[in-house]
Amino acid sequence: MKILFLGDVVGRAGRRAITEHLPGLRERWKLDFVVVNGENATGGMGLSGEHAKSFLAAGADVVTLGDHAFDQKDMLSFCEREPRIIRPLNFAKGAPGRGIGVYPDTRGRKVVVAQVLGQVFMKRAFDDPFSTIEAALKPYPRGGQAQAILVDMHCEATSEKMAMGHYLDGRASVVVGTHTHVPTADAMILPGGTAYQTDAGMCGDYYSVIGMDKAEPMRRFVTGMAKSRFEPAMGEVTLSGLYVETDDTTGKATRVEMVREGGRLAASGP
Ligand SMILES: [Fe+2]
Ligand SMILES: [Fe+2]
Repeated sequence: MKILFLGDVVGRAGRRAITEHLPGLRERWKLDFVVVNGENATGGMGLSGEHAKSFLAAGADVVTLGDHAFDQKDMLSFCEREPRIIRPLNFAKGAPGRGIGVYPDTRGRKVVVAQVLGQVFMKRAFDDPFSTIEAALKPYPRGGQAQAILVDMHCEATSEKMAMGHYLDGRASVVVGTHTHVPTADAMILPGGTAYQTDAGMCGDYYSVIGMDKAEPMRRFVTGMAKSRFEPAMGEVTLSGLYVETDDTTGKATRVEMVREGGRLAASGP
């Protein structure tokens, strides 16, 4: 199965790049299944139902969220109505929506998608992601009913993401990190057949501070004082993520490539 994962979409420029380019990528790379992280798509903070719909219409099979899951208030009810939205499993006990789901690909094969939040350097104390994902994946052994299993590990620390990659090696087909918005150059297949990248990067303008117009973040770093809100940068967008091919019988990854399409980052892809 040919799977594409795209990292955090940032703001209007990121959204436009998804709606303009994802349909073409689906065709060109003959993709069977696409997951897009949308946690920063609406004004840089959260995802509105309207914008989620535009990603699904452009060819995303599932949209994952993150710590910004509910920054846009309509997502509280939208994610209850739309099963293709995945929020972190360990967001909060009473959070609406779901953190894991099973979805059909182009040929009716099944893909499990789940997301967990890490604990290191995060704004809130979230529940242990390791025991949470362990329990959630128990009904879906790799090589069983589902042909592929993808876990989005959303957190700040590279160490915690790597630990999750190894923890799920042999259980997931793909473990990919999100949240830090800068792609790491460590895409690999772990010994147990799990495709892994510490951070997928963002779908946004890289001539920025992690997707935000650079003026205000620089002012805050340099002077320690805030003057205005963070605004998403509006320049040319690089679509960033991970391309994975998996074996339908075993669920193991057989090929992994980093993806960088368009914009200022050096190109890379299958
Ligand atoms: Fe995040
Ligand atoms: Fe993000």
